[in-house]
Amino acid sequence: MATAKNPRKILVTSALPYANGSIHLGHLVEYIQTDIWVRFQKMQGHTVHYVCADDTHGTPIMLRAEKEGITPEALIANVHKEHSADFAEFLVQFDNYYSTNAPENKELSQGIYKKLKAAGKIATKTIEQFYDPVKNMFLPDRFIKGECPKCHAKDQYGDSCEVCGATYNPTELINAYSAVSGAAPVRKETEHYFFKLSECEQFLKDWTRSGTLQGEAANKMGEWFENGLNDWDISRDAPYFGFEIPDAPGKYFYVWLDAPIGYMASFKNICQAKGLDFDEYWAKDSKAELYHFIGKDILYFHALFWPATLEFSGHRKPTQIFAHGFLTVNGEKMSKSRGTFITARSYLDHIKNPEYLRYYYAAKLNSTMEDIDLNLEDFVARVNSDLVGKYINIASRTAGFINKRFDGQLNPSANNSVVVEIKAASQLLADSYAEREYGKALREIMRLADLANGFVAASAPWVIAKQEGQDAVLQQVCSDALEMFRLLTLYLKPVLPKLVGEIEQFLNITSLDWLDVDTSLAVQHRINAYEHLITRVEPKLIEAMTEANKENLTATSAPQPHSEQRHAVHQQSEANSDAAEAEYISIDDFTKVDLRIARIVNAEHVEGAEKLLKLTLDIGEEKPRQVFAGIKFAYDPATLVGRLTVMVANLAPRKMKFGLSEGMVLAASDERGGPFILSPDAGAQLGMRVK
Ligand code: MSP
Ligand code: ZN
Repeated sequence: MATAKNPRKILVTSALPYANGSIHLGHLVEYIQTDIWVRFQKMQGHTVHYVCADDTHGTPIMLRAEKEGITPEALIANVHKEHSADFAEFLVQFDNYYSTNAPENKELSQGIYKKLKAAGKIATKTIEQFYDPVKNMFLPDRFIKGECPKCHAKDQYGDSCEVCGATYNPTELINAYSAVSGAAPVRKETEHYFFKLSECEQFLKDWTRSGTLQGEAANKMGEWFENGLNDWDISRDAPYFGFEIPDAPGKYFYVWLDAPIGYMASFKNICQAKGLDFDEYWAKDSKAELYHFIGKDILYFHALFWPATLEFSGHRKPTQIFAHGFLTVNGEKMSKSRGTFITARSYLDHIKNPEYLRYYYAAKLNSTMEDIDLNLEDFVARVNSDLVGKYINIASRTAGFINKRFDGQLNPSANNSVVVEIKAASQLLADSYAEREYGKALREIMRLADLANGFVAASAPWVIAKQEGQDAVLQQVCSDALEMFRLLTLYLKPVLPKLVGEIEQFLNITSLDWLDVDTSLAVQHRINAYEHLITRVEPKLIEAMTEANKENLTATSAPQPHSEQRHAVHQQSEANSDAAEAEYISIDDFTKVDLRIARIVNAEHVEGAEKLLKLTLDIGEEKPRQVFAGIKFAYDPATLVGRLTVMVANLAPRKMKFGLSEGMVLAASDERGGPFILSPDAGAQLGMRVK
């Protein structure tokens, strides 16, 4: 692992989002993933430039502008503003957020094309394409519609049917029509320019073996090689919103030619202002590192076309390509009808705090191309339990004593063993971040937070505070806890930059870098007043957000599919029909549940039951309760006998196959593990009520 003593020069990109749509939570997987990596590398003391841009060219953008009655330039200017604001609010900190429709990009694209041509890598071929005779333009497949040749569903796209899933050529559509004018398309010949990718096979094979790709991506490349590489059609006919091909009137670069060159253009755009040497990063013999973060859907462009373009135009190749998987929400593809197609803006409007999402994504991310799931219930639970319950808790339970009793002054001990253990994790955590194993990093950080909380609980400053003559101990315990908090804060900084900024203020320290692991809060250092740092995520905000994103499917008439559903769910309990309130129960509802401390006096296997253990629970009543609990695979019954737990004592008795169950024990579980039976703290007596 390099350190600041050995600074590296690193250029990092995220894929350029199309300029004809809003940024959504799927996009943010990528931009947040990249931003965390960049912030981490900057904390290491490396020189890092993180550039991106809007991807502005192509037919869809041209037609959308026309539909809105504005020029494409006006459309992309509006979208650029919107995208920039979204990214800034999600704390995605680009060193430049540019546009592919820029002079640098035009010059670079045309220059690269000329080099490819001089290298003999460009060919022309006459092809036949669909043409809209009314609109006078060639039509991309997406803009041809018609009846599915398989299931005869109407209005299907030129390449696949959304109803039966069939894929086909646009020529196979029945009664094909242009989605632009409605006219029947005709076939027309046109000359196109091709990049001779078929001649680049050996180069690409060698390059694939150079360790630039993840294992799964290299496998995918293998498949592509097996199928053979086709020459790549890089031209489109006018009218097209893009750059003209030199010496080819009426011909434009296909958007995917100039889009990745947009990475270079965005960097070039800041070179002068920042005193950077463009060639130091892009020349063939460049020693700087170049990393592209992308989604798995655009691997083909980045792992085939892009390195070949760079190679044969005399440039360096990417050091590595980091492809990630796709976002699912609640285990399914984002869906407008379920309200899970959520834009960045809608998240900000409802949930407000972007760092919750940054934390949740980080907790889920690893270095593979596996899809990642945003489970909205888990999101609430994870953020509340980790960030609020574990991390911030360390400061909120100790800072007050330092401020009130010691005028903000610290007096940490020299060698607290928990502090030592937290510091010792530095290398493992740095490696995990560098390898994009953020989930692994956060699991380790939360394990350390558990240790810190264990230290606070065992030291019980709130008890010491009431004892006389214990001031020095109180000050030391709280100071040590705050040192633990400082270290965890440092480790979380790439993920939670804004919160960490506030904590640096509170701790009264300068901006944390990774090397600050080796420093400590000094004796007599003064912290500032502790202000409330973070609030819990309210489940009702999630509900409101998905409601707001549910697309009105039956545009006019009364009940929406989803509101019917909700009605069915609540009918039973005659619950309040107001969706927002339905998330809460009243204190009266809660006190209806009779929770009691119970002693497990016996636990045994049940003949013929796969999951159940039979527990005998003493809650101080005359007759012990019999409860069947689904915990067989997690517990050896012998280890349960004698321990205290919590039970629901007034659950209606339920007749089960194996006998009567007279209550329920409480246990925690989700996909991470469990069930884990709850235990009360020392001192609780059987029969006590839990409230
Ligand atoms: N414009 C091209 C990229 C050109 S790069 C030279 C493009 N744009 S995009 O807006 O469709 O996607 C931008 C990035 O977001 C891509 O890397 C894409 O994989 C990623 N994602 C878009 N939707 C996504 C999910 N639902 N989940 C995860 N990433 C997703 O492709
Ligand atoms: Zn069909």
